[in-house]
Amino acid sequence: MSTPTLLILPGDGIGPEVMDQVTRVIDWFGDKRDMPFDVSTDLVGGAAYDAHGVPLHDDTMAKAQEVDAVLLGAVGGPQYDDLDFRVKPERGLLRLRKEMDLFANLRPAQCFDALADFSSLKKDIVAGLDIMIVRELTSGVYFGEPRGIIEEGNERVGINTQRYTESEIERAARAAFELAMRRNKKVCSMEKANVMESGILWREVVTDVAKDYPEVELSHMYADNGAMQLVRAPKQFDVIVTDNLFGDILSDCAAMLTGSLGMLPSASLGAPMANGRPKAMYEPVHGSAPDIAGQGKANPIACILSFAMALRYSFDQGDEATRLEQAIEAVLASGARTGDLMGPEGGTPLSTAEMGDAIIAALDASL
Ligand code: IPM
Ligand code: MG
Repeated sequence: MSTPTLLILPGDGIGPEVMDQVTRVIDWFGDKRDMPFDVSTDLVGGAAYDAHGVPLHDDTMAKAQEVDAVLLGAVGGPQYDDLDFRVKPERGLLRLRKEMDLFANLRPAQCFDALADFSSLKKDIVAGLDIMIVRELTSGVYFGEPRGIIEEGNERVGINTQRYTESEIERAARAAFELAMRRNKKVCSMEKANVMESGILWREVVTDVAKDYPEVELSHMYADNGAMQLVRAPKQFDVIVTDNLFGDILSDCAAMLTGSLGMLPSASLGAPMANGRPKAMYEPVHGSAPDIAGQGKANPIACILSFAMALRYSFDQGDEATRLEQAIEAVLASGARTGDLMGPEGGTPLSTAEMGDAIIAALDASL
């Protein structure tokens, strides 16, 4: 097989500094595991806007369609808040998701033992937590038409449309059931079928898909109850499948259960390409964190764990993904912490690059 190709889009804020550490990890796998990647880098978000006046250049979009996987850092920053909606940094990210048709967004929330004390919840509620949220990513209220701000009488009206076709629900549901088969065989589907027709259809289609997976136990929850259950007893869940907007909100909530948003990776997967690999983009769940950008304080772990997901889901290297995840676990167990992981007892936090050093050293030790 030819050398796999990666497109790196560091983006804005802390994106470039955390991505620098991912690049070191990618190089490590090339040098020490004989797994070279053909890496190119480009702009997205505010960085692309500054250079080209658009948050994603057409050439970058074309490149993203060609490569085996895209790695994205983060987009956005306060300096772009007043930009026209169509050129806001976030539009670059949404265009990538939509045009690559990355319908299944996998957001694992795992609580590392060494960090169970950092959760805002009691330790026994989160210790050992391992759930996977599958968020539909290419439809729903994020993309539904009509949308816009219109004049009506003597006032303005803001409009967005929640819209789901059966096939859009079905493919997201299938992704969730396939994952559940490789995990603890439980899927909980979340919607608001009590107030939304799209929720009624969602529940019907998911129930139909479940018939193809008789070993998987399916449950349904209204999304508001789901939010409550996530903070009450999160370990009741295995795989959660939900729509684009509920998934956005519920995944932030799940992420925080694990102690820090700086720990959580994600994979956005689409249909298989000609070479059998899925269209794919990997990104940390955290955003651009402009308040700490450029200071070397950011935690690179979420972004590095996103590369581990790439090894697993794009390159069929589950063992190497586990090697990387275990290296990170070992680093955390040794007490290494970036600023976001400092407890009340204090101590000196590691810089972004020092955390990278520690992870590379743990990878070396794994050989
Ligand atoms: C996320 C983010 C994005 C979203 C933003 C940056 C557009 O919050 O990936 O969760 O709303 O999907
Ligand atoms: Mg979000």
